[in-house]
Amino acid sequence: MSDAATAYQGPQRIYSGMQPSGDLHLGNYLGALINWVKLQEEWECVFCAVDLHAITVPQDPKKLASQTREITAAWLAAGVDPDKSIVYAQSSVPAHSELAWILNCTARMGWVERMTQFKDKAGKDSERASVGLFTYPVLQAADILAFKGTHVPVGEDQKQHLELSRDIADRFNRDFDAENFFPQPEPLIQGPGARVMSLKDGTKKMSKSDPSELSRINFIDDADVIAKKIKKAKSDADALPSEVEGLEGRPEARNLVGIYGALAEKTNAEVLAEFGGEGFGKFKPALAELAVEKLSPITQKMRSYMDDPAQIDAVLKKGAEKANAISEPIIKEVREIVGFWNT
Ligand code: TYM
Repeated sequence: MSDAATAYQGPQRIYSGMQPSGDLHLGNYLGALINWVKLQEEWECVFCAVDLHAITVPQDPKKLASQTREITAAWLAAGVDPDKSIVYAQSSVPAHSELAWILNCTARMGWVERMTQFKDKAGKDSERASVGLFTYPVLQAADILAFKGTHVPVGEDQKQHLELSRDIADRFNRDFDAENFFPQPEPLIQGPGARVMSLKDGTKKMSKSDPSELSRINFIDDADVIAKKIKKAKSDADALPSEVEGLEGRPEARNLVGIYGALAEKTNAEVLAEFGGEGFGKFKPALAELAVEKLSPITQKMRSYMDDPAQIDAVLKKGAEKANAISEPIIKEVREIVGFWNT
């Protein structure tokens, strides 16, 4: 990894999170989760089910806890190892909420107003969006900084939020004369899966908020559903090119090739070396077969974890203890730096 944390002297720590709000999809897997599993082999990693973020849009209180268990089950099934990584739910660690408030007072309105994800999520009726949705990226900065996270593995859509986190860290350090107290967290946006697009429109990102189920492959889709969605994916009439340049102006072709590459751990050039000259009639079944081969074992494991919620709860409980042990002393220092009474 790079010398991202520049003059910051603390330990290098990987931090990332995912919202427990409905089905995990292929974009979450290829953009983030697959990298988490690799990173934990070498680095101290902290992974958070961000349920405080989830409630920035309405959630069913009867389902939220089970959604948190479900996302945890998906991580474990994909290979996140709770003996190597810290895995916990955001709401079980008070540091997030406390630091978020303090950083809301550090972040500037203009910075947050520039966030495109808020504009996308709030849509035309932003007056009706929750205030929490607006300050969502400040809570995200608080997540990372409450752990002094130095590197953040995410998909490309999170780049702007990570830039804001860096600005907030820098501003806090300067406002309070606390040089290098917070690191400048570096995004780790890696691999051909960093930006998985909708199966129905290669110019739109794959997203759980897309009304069309056919636009995404969900973790819990069975083999038949995966095959059907890939068969129905938008493509074009031409054969696949033999060179990467030939994907120019063909967003759907690029996306399907990128998905194949991410699943097979190959570059687009390698995929095209194999399939160049073939039409989608041949490529799509190969992609469907690969997707099923890679995802089915994870889905099966995820289901068996879900059959044992007590085991997942034990993982989250232990994770929360470890997460509190790291974040409490950091928050104590923040309180001293800010000058609160009785710190
Ligand atoms: P969430 O749950 O929306 O997304 C989780 C992860 O999946 C990635 N992702 C994608 N990657 C590639 N292609 C896609 N189509 C795609 N869709 C989603 C996201 O980039 C993300 O890595 N705001 C965060 C959650 C968060 C967080 C944090 C992340 C809260 N606090 C602190 C890092 C550090 C989010 O996007 O969640």
